[in-house]
Amino acid sequence: METVNAPPHMVLVPLPAQGHINPFISIANYLAASGVSVTLVRSARAHSLLSSASKGSSPSDPPQNTEKGKIRIEVVPDGMSVDPTQHVPVGTFLNSINIIRNGVEELLYKLMQEEQPPCCLLVDNLIGWGHDVAVKFGLAWMMLWTGSASGFSIGFYIPQLVARGYIPAIGEEAKQRIVDFIPGMSPFCIRDLPKAIIVEEDPSNKPMFQFFLSIYESAKHADRLLVNSIYELENSVVEALRKEAGFKIEPIGPLFMMGAFSDATKSPAASLLQEDTSCLYWLDEQQESSVLYISFGSVASIEEDAVKELAYGLEASGLNFLWVIRPDALPDKKSVEDLFPEGFIERTCDRGRVISWAPQLAVLGHRVVGAFLTHCGWNSVLESLCNGVPMLGFPLQADQNTNLQCIVHDWKVGLPLLKPNVQQVERLHAQWAMTAIMRGDEGREIRKHVIQWKEVAINAVHGSSKANLEKLVDDLKCGRL
Ligand code: UDX
Repeated sequence: METVNAPPHMVLVPLPAQGHINPFISIANYLAASGVSVTLVRSARAHSLLSSASKGSSPSDPPQNTEKGKIRIEVVPDGMSVDPTQHVPVGTFLNSINIIRNGVEELLYKLMQEEQPPCCLLVDNLIGWGHDVAVKFGLAWMMLWTGSASGFSIGFYIPQLVARGYIPAIGEEAKQRIVDFIPGMSPFCIRDLPKAIIVEEDPSNKPMFQFFLSIYESAKHADRLLVNSIYELENSVVEALRKEAGFKIEPIGPLFMMGAFSDATKSPAASLLQEDTSCLYWLDEQQESSVLYISFGSVASIEEDAVKELAYGLEASGLNFLWVIRPDALPDKKSVEDLFPEGFIERTCDRGRVISWAPQLAVLGHRVVGAFLTHCGWNSVLESLCNGVPMLGFPLQADQNTNLQCIVHDWKVGLPLLKPNVQQVERLHAQWAMTAIMRGDEGREIRKHVIQWKEVAINAVHGSSKANLEKLVDDLKCGRL
């Protein structure tokens, strides 16, 4: 009798943040539809928020079956609040990474006893314990880098930045120094580094700095580094990481578009907050390319003064807008009305909407959206680029400075919101930048570039990224890990 090989079993561990959950769900769907057995780990906070946000809407939990494989969802403790209006401090979030580790280890003890034990672990890029856990259980392991290859490369070369005296960067002059030695990357200035890296004191005393270093150290040991990017977008960086740093790095993005290979209607729930889909009806009534979409992602909050300056600039610009203000981003439990200049919402109600969470992919794909004022989180950048939407960048934390640098200088798909060397939002300049990206010659030129990159992304979905994902599945099936 012919023996049928059991499908390979992979355990996926994302962190409980929207920008990490989204790419993990896409890859889980892809793998499951390709005949890989998938266990998707969910932290308790993510599980609770996903369940309440998806109530009454499809898709929903519990575990889903896709055509070929099965996505099994396992919930582990994370020590975090399940209140969506409560902002999670960075320290609590980082602490949750170790709590999740305990849960994952307990789960692996259980899974290893089952008929079809896992062969491979796929961990989030902010998890530094992938290697240790994989060794403990005799598993192969991979890291899914949810940011850009450029962001990874910059981080990988942090020890060199320290050794060459760029870090610590004390004073403005030191922050303007140009770094031109990172293989495959265009020159950039210290200001374009992730904020946690631009320290003014000895970095050995800086916990966030050390945390980032440990991530890159851990990545060196991964059997494969999967990156949610497009080879053609970052080919020189990817090649340099392969040749000069010896990484087995495979761009497999944009992952949200790779869902075309699975049945998206059967996906597990993805949104941590309830989407306000009514904004889509409002968008339907607007004119082509007339709406500026404004959102600063799933984690960062912008200062109250910056919100007010932006609002004054926006009002003076006369532009239509859709603006997302998350409930957890409101300072001191203020109301949305209190956050804006007095009367702003009433005065702009004929041309603008403020909502708490958008169906972002549908918004960016809507014909009326002319540009995206974004914090430059990597998922938002990919989603904007792949929908041909020009960006106005206002980076706030993490890898977002680096992403803006690539957006403006390498891919020419956006403008910075702030003037060079200015750190604060200023209403007159904001008005100029918003008008320039929506209606100016700058915006027209940028739109041409972004449409070209959109084509590149679509080609990658059927070309380079698809090939890398197919190779991953083949290797999993043949045990070539
Ligand atoms: C952070 C980092 O900045 C990012 O670069 C990293 O790779 C992941 O974590 P985050 O603030 O979560 O990012 O932003 P982003 O990467 O843009 O992800 C946000 C996700 O939430 C996007 O997929 C976006 O579509 C979704 N979103 C955002 C919504 O669905 N609705 C909204 O209203 C806002």
